[in-house]
Amino acid sequence: MRSKKVTKAVFPVAGLGTRFLPATKSIPKEIMTLVDRPLIQYAIDEARAAGIKEFIFVTSRGKSALEDYFDTAPELESELRRKNKTELLEVLKATNMDSGAIAYLRQNRPMGLGHAVWCARRLIGDEPFAVLLPDDVIAAEKPCLAQMVEAYEETGGCMVATMEVPPAKASAYGVLDIDEDMGSVVKARGMVEKPKAEEAPSNLAVIGRYILSPKVMTNLNRMKQGAGGEIQLTDAIADEVEGEGVYGFRFRGMRYDCGSKAGFLQATVAFGLSRPDLRDEFSAYLDEMVAQSRAAE
Ligand code: G1P
Repeated sequence: MRSKKVTKAVFPVAGLGTRFLPATKSIPKEIMTLVDRPLIQYAIDEARAAGIKEFIFVTSRGKSALEDYFDTAPELESELRRKNKTELLEVLKATNMDSGAIAYLRQNRPMGLGHAVWCARRLIGDEPFAVLLPDDVIAAEKPCLAQMVEAYEETGGCMVATMEVPPAKASAYGVLDIDEDMGSVVKARGMVEKPKAEEAPSNLAVIGRYILSPKVMTNLNRMKQGAGGEIQLTDAIADEVEGEGVYGFRFRGMRYDCGSKAGFLQATVAFGLSRPDLRDEFSAYLDEMVAQSRAAE
C-alpha cells in the first residue's frame, strides 16, 4: 500500500508542567534543556528528519518563550557575526523556522491530549499527520518518526510508537490490545488509556509518537470523555481499529521520559555522554563519583 505523504506535525505543548515547579513557574517545560538544547528542539529535529514541513504547536497561556525561541534573533546574530563566531551563528540559525512553516494555536482550557490535538483540525484538513509529545525524547540512530514513516508506507491507517513496559507501569500509558504480532509492527484490536495494572490488555505501551489518519480528528469531534474525565487521543485512535486499522511500531532506540524528574536526569546523563565535546570529561567525573560512593559503602 502506498500511503499519502506525512508533511504536517502537531506538537501538544499546552501542559502546565507542574512536575517541574518551581522551574516551570516562568518557563515552559519544553524550553528546559537537555545539555544545551531545549526539549522542543529534539522533537522538531526528529520531525524534520522524517520529512515534516509544517509544524503546528498547540500552546496555552505562558508559552510565549516558545514562539521567541523559533524566531530569528537579529541582535544576537549581528553580535556573533561581528565577533566572527561562525560556529555559534550556525547553531543559532539551525533553530530558526521559515516564515509560515510554524503555526501556534491556543488550547484555552486543559481538556486532555485528544482535545489539544483536535485544536489543530482545520490546519490538518484531510491529510494524515504526525503527533510528537516532546516529553518523550528518543535517542536513535535513525530518528523514531523516520522509522515510523517508513513502516507506515506499508500499513497506512494509524500508527503509534510502542515499547514493552513492566506490567506495574502499564497504568501510566495508553496500552495496546494485540491482534497480530508481526515483530516490529503489531496490529491492534484495541487500545486502552491508563488501564488498571490488572486490567492492562498487554505490556505494550504507547510512546509519544503517532502517525494518524484525519479520521481521528473526526472521531475527536465527538468530544467523548475518557480516562480522568479528559478527551483522550488514545480513544479516538482506538475507534479506527475496525476502520483503517491501528498499528503499533516497536521503534529501535532508547526512550527517556523527560516528563519525570528521574527520566530527565537519565536523559541528561545519556545525552551528555553521547556528546563528543563532553564525553571524556563527563565520563571521568561519573567514574569518580561511582568510585567514591562505592568507597563510602
Ligand atoms: C500520554 C498519552 C498516553 C501515552 C503517553 C506516552 O499520556 O495519553 O497514551 O502512553 O503520553 O508518554 P501522558 O504521559 O500525557 O499522561
